[in-house]
Amino acid sequence: MRHLLSVADLDASEATALLDTADRLRQALLGREVRKLPTLRGRTVITMFYENSTRTRVSFEIAGKWMSADTVNVSASGSSVSKGESLRDTALTLSSMGADCVIVRHPASGAAHRLAHWVDAAREATGTPTAIVNAGDGTHEHPTQALLDAATLRDRLGGIAGRRIAIVGDVLHSRVARSNVLLLATLGAEVVLVAPPTLLPAGVEQWPCRVSHSLDAELPAADAVMMLRVQAERMHGGFFPSAREYAVGYGLSADRAALLPDHAVVLHPGPMVRGMEIAPAVADAPNSAVLAQVRNGVHVRMAVLYHLLAGAPE
Ligand code: CP
Repeated sequence: MRHLLSVADLDASEATALLDTADRLRQALLGREVRKLPTLRGRTVITMFYENSTRTRVSFEIAGKWMSADTVNVSASGSSVSKGESLRDTALTLSSMGADCVIVRHPASGAAHRLAHWVDAAREATGTPTAIVNAGDGTHEHPTQALLDAATLRDRLGGIAGRRIAIVGDVLHSRVARSNVLLLATLGAEVVLVAPPTLLPAGVEQWPCRVSHSLDAELPAADAVMMLRVQAERMHGGFFPSAREYAVGYGLSADRAALLPDHAVVLHPGPMVRGMEIAPAVADAPNSAVLAQVRNGVHVRMAVLYHLLAGAPE
């Protein structure tokens, strides 16, 4: 694996290998007082975030540190990006400083792919083969979120193939939804998107999943329900349905959650808008995997760095 730009680049065996590495890394760190492996000593990992983040940025930093890499964080507001430097010049600058891996989040769909193209084309000039990881590009993809969700579903359900996963809410603006549909379908799950027609993207009928407009109809047969964040910041003209109508039709209330089978798991990528997308009691219930998702995010991101910088383990 040279870069991680899209889950579409992973077949089932490559995705499973990443999840297996994440499991092994979790086991390797279990019970250790000092959570530090020597695996990436001497390697430099840079996070370059043009959009806000808590989970993704911090967990990549922790993942790098727990494997002894040198980690550096660059934010758009605190760098020369604020003086007008382009994405390409910024990336080549970091590559020339010896960045073995640049993890990028950007509001433009396709930004990570462009970056990978630029650093590959300038490889001789920069002197470093820099790997690019897509940490979320516009409304396109968020591959490591889908991998950590798959790790969580595997843990909680004992496997993914044949399981029915409902992904609910603002699919239109969600890079998490697209990456999850692609990865879960690759791993053999049956995926249903549940959303109002106004929050579905054009061309969704070509995605490897089913579409429904009724959450109540889907919950009784779901093995897992993944609630999406409503991305108000990407809805410049307001959104329809209104926040209240959304909560009534698509929010996971306690009454609705009671429709789920006993074994079913509740997920949310975060950050959660409690009360609208998910009731506080549901977010904090024993069948909620929200904090397990965050924990798994560190091990999955360790696995991604490991495969990119140290090679896939035997
Ligand atoms: N799930 C997710 O990407 O969260 P952050 O925006 O906090 O990174």
